[in-house]
Amino acid sequence: MSGYSKGAEATISPAEYLGRPAVRKSRPSKSYRLPELDSRIRSVRTRNEVRMMREARRAGVRTPCVYDLDVSECSIVMEAVPGRTAKEVISEGGEEALRVAVEIGRATARLHSAGLCHGDLTTSNVIVRPDGEICLIDFSMGRSKATVEDIGVDLRLLENAFASSHAGMEDVGEAMMSAYFEGVRDPDAVRKKLGDIRNRGRYT
Ligand SMILES: Nc1ncnc2c1ncn2[C@@H]1O[C@H](COP(=O)(O)OP(=O)(O)OP(=O)(O)O)[C@@H](O)[C@H]1O
Ligand SMILES: [Mg+2]
Repeated sequence: MSGYSKGAEATISPAEYLGRPAVRKSRPSKSYRLPELDSRIRSVRTRNEVRMMREARRAGVRTPCVYDLDVSECSIVMEAVPGRTAKEVISEGGEEALRVAVEIGRATARLHSAGLCHGDLTTSNVIVRPDGEICLIDFSMGRSKATVEDIGVDLRLLENAFASSHAGMEDVGEAMMSAYFEGVRDPDAVRKKLGDIRNRGRYT
């Protein structure tokens, strides 16, 4: 498995759970935050991530199985998903890049149709398993009961992620977007909202 990283907030480390390959995602405290605020942010994000992974799975989107949750430590032990990030796979181009892009569009449509938004949709937060299935990770900023605004912002993030991480591969981004609009529950409302959001970026 590649790409273990230390992001801005969380630390990912290899672990084992009842003999199964696992990863531990923990949120160490940040000294620059007031202690009470810090522990609240860490625990809210940790619990939110677990809840969102469960809700996403119910909406038909694969996410890692959670093996253990430690609320006081703000850490999650979850299934280690084998494979590579969609970012790596798409960067290699070809048929597989297009296939993965379409799968990302479909998965995002399923999330949004269930009223869920991911909060940090990028191709780094998608793992392509060796069997070809995709698995979404990093739901700590996600939310349920998403409004069309939340959904539009989520989709705009994804669109931008494709444009910046996969520059020069416009066909891949277009394949993702058309799969999305084919699958989402209210494509007209989302299309309109996305247009508004793109314009906002242009004039502010
Ligand atoms: N369950 C998992 N199985 C395999 N690899 C994982 C798993 N969870 C995370 N990773 C790897 O670790 C990287 C970072 O994980 P993640 O995206 O969850 O954290 P982050 O971006 O640092 O967190 P946050 O944005 O919540 O602060 C991922 O891009 C992926 O490569
Ligand atoms: Mg991430």
